[in-house]
This record gives sequence, C-alpha cells and structure tokens, in this order.
Amino acid sequence: MTRDEPLKPIEQKLVDAAIQARTHSYSPYSKFAVGAALLTKSGKIMTGCNVENASYGLAICAERTAICKSVSEGESEIVAIAVAAHPLASPCGACRQFIAEFGGEIEVVCVDAESPEDFKKWRADELLPDRFEFKK
Ligand code: THU
Repeated sequence: MTRDEPLKPIEQKLVDAAIQARTHSYSPYSKFAVGAALLTKSGKIMTGCNVENASYGLAICAERTAICKSVSEGESEIVAIAVAAHPLASPCGACRQFIAEFGGEIEVVCVDAESPEDFKKWRADELLPDRFEFKK
C-alpha cells in the first residue's frame, strides 16, 4: 500500500543518495539504470546500483547490491531503503524477499530519478506479505 505522507528529511537524503548511486549503474544490456541507498540503525547510508552481465540472468539489482555491501560491512540492521529509476519502478520479487529478510518494518521508498517528487512508499511487509521464512 502506497502512503501519501511527504518524505521525512532522512528519506529525502536517501533518495538523493540513490539518485547519485544510479549514476554508477552498469546496465549496458537493459539500459535501465537503478540506484539504491539504505539507512542502517547506526545511521550509516550504504548505496548500490544494478550490475548486469553478458549472461543476462546474472544481473544483480541495485537493492541487493546495497544490502550485500551493508551486511558485509557488519551493518545488517536496516531501517529504510530508497530506490531510484526512470520511470519509477517498485522492487522486483527477489528484492522484496531480500529486503524483508532484514525486517518487515523497513521503509521502502521508490522514486522517479528524473522527477523525484514522484514517489511511492511502503513497508517491506506490505510489499511482500506472508514471505517465506526459514522455520526450524
Ligand atoms: N532492477 C533493479 O536494479 N531493481 C529492481 O528491483 C528491478 C530491476 C534492474 C535489474 C536489471 O539490471 C534492470 O533493472 C532491468 O531489469
């Protein structure tokens, strides 16, 4: 469910970082550049972009790049993530599962990178209700 509230200043900062990260996109095949920026509980901002490959199925989305960078730096507590693309795109199914792994309450903000006033916002568990969880 998209919410109509305006972006908080920290969310705006994430959006700006996602738009900047998008400039690093390696997307020669789809030509669809995506940037992501996440906020950790400790207050750090980690960014990522999509990285494609000649073997198309190996493409890694911007959201997963940012999350892998963050977790591998010891920052696995994630509060929010912004995603920038043009036109605005919401996270793919794999990324929804990947984001929700780190918390159903994570705020997900997607913006049109060329018109950032155009955005959508959800909680991770709104984007992927009843996600798969590994229960022993
Ligand atoms: N892409 C992302 O980076 N995030 C998404 O959530 C959806 C798709 C990328 C993958 C690929 O490089 C390009 O967009 C086209 O699918």
